[in-house]
Amino acid sequence: MRLKDRIAIVTGGASGIGLATTQRLLEEGASVVLCDIAAREGERAVASLAAQGLTRVAFVAADVSRSEDVRRVIDAAISSHGRVDILFNNAGYFETGAVHEVPEDEWERTMAVNLRSVFLCSKYVVPGMLERGSGSIIHNASIAAVVGDRSSAAYCASKGGIGMLTKAMALDYSPRGIRVNAICCGEIETPLFVREAAQHGIPTAEFRKMLADQHPIGRIGRVEEVAAVVAFLASDDASFITGALIPVDGGYSAG
Ligand SMILES: NC(=O)c1ccc[n+]([C@@H]2O[C@H](COP(=O)([O-])OP(=O)(O)OC[C@H]3O[C@@H](n4cnc5c(N)ncnc54)[C@H](O)[C@@H]3O)[C@@H](O)[C@H]2O)c1
Repeated sequence: MRLKDRIAIVTGGASGIGLATTQRLLEEGASVVLCDIAAREGERAVASLAAQGLTRVAFVAADVSRSEDVRRVIDAAISSHGRVDILFNNAGYFETGAVHEVPEDEWERTMAVNLRSVFLCSKYVVPGMLERGSGSIIHNASIAAVVGDRSSAAYCASKGGIGMLTKAMALDYSPRGIRVNAICCGEIETPLFVREAAQHGIPTAEFRKMLADQHPIGRIGRVEEVAAVVAFLASDDASFITGALIPVDGGYSAG
C-alpha cells in the first residue's frame, strides 16, 4: 500500500500497459482517474476492475491530444479528489513508415497523440503540484526514445521528444518537489504489439519470436512488469530518482 490515498491520472488506461498500471496503482492504495479515447473499452475496464473489488477508479472519455479534453479529465480528478499526486502519461499510438512514406497528416497525428498529449497533461497538472510542492509524473516513452528503429520514423521522433521533455521538466520542477521520469519499454505483449505485427505484415507468433530473440532476456515483456516499475516511480521509494529514462526492456538497449 505504498500509494495509499494518492490520486492518480492514467491516460490511455483502457488497455495494455495503462490498464495493468491502473490495476497496480489501485492495488497499492491509490485512487485513479482513467481516461481513454476508446469510451466502450474504458467503461469495460472500470467494470472489470470493480469486479475484482478495485472500485476507487473512474473513467473519463477523452482524446488527450486535445486541450479541452485534457482539462476535462483533470477537472474531474480535482472535483472528485481535490488534487492530482501522480500523472502517468501513457496514451500512445504506432504507425509504420520511413520518412518518405509517412503522410504529413500521419506525422501530425503521431506527434499529437504521443507528444503533444504529454505536454498538455503535464501543463495542466503541474500548477496544482507546484502549489502543494509534491508530485510524480511518469511518461511512457519507449526504447524508441533512445535506440532508432526501422520503418518507425514518426514514432521514434515522438518518443525521442518525450525523452528530452522528461529531462527538461525534471530540471524545471525537481527543485519544487515534482519528480519527472520516463520509462523506456522494449516490446511488451499488448494490443499495440499485435497491431504492430499486422502493420509489418508478420504473423503475431512469428513477430513475438523474432522480437524475443532481440531481447537478451529471451522474451518480450509483460504488462505487469511495466506496471510494477511505474508504481515504484510513483511512490516515495523512488524519492531520489528524477530526470531518468528507465529501460524496461529485458536488456534490449544494453547492446
Ligand atoms: N507495447 C509495446 O511494446 C510498447 C513498447 C514501448 C512503448 N509502448 C508505449 O506504451 C504506451 C501504451 O501502449 P500499449 O502497448 O499498452 O498499447 P494499447 O494500444 O494497448 O494502449 C494504448 C491506449 O491508448 C489509447 N489512446 C490512443 N490514442 C489516444 C488518445 N488520443 N487519447 C486517449 N487515449 C488514447 C488507446 O485507446 C489504448 O487504450 C504507448 O505510449 C506506447 O507507445 C508500448
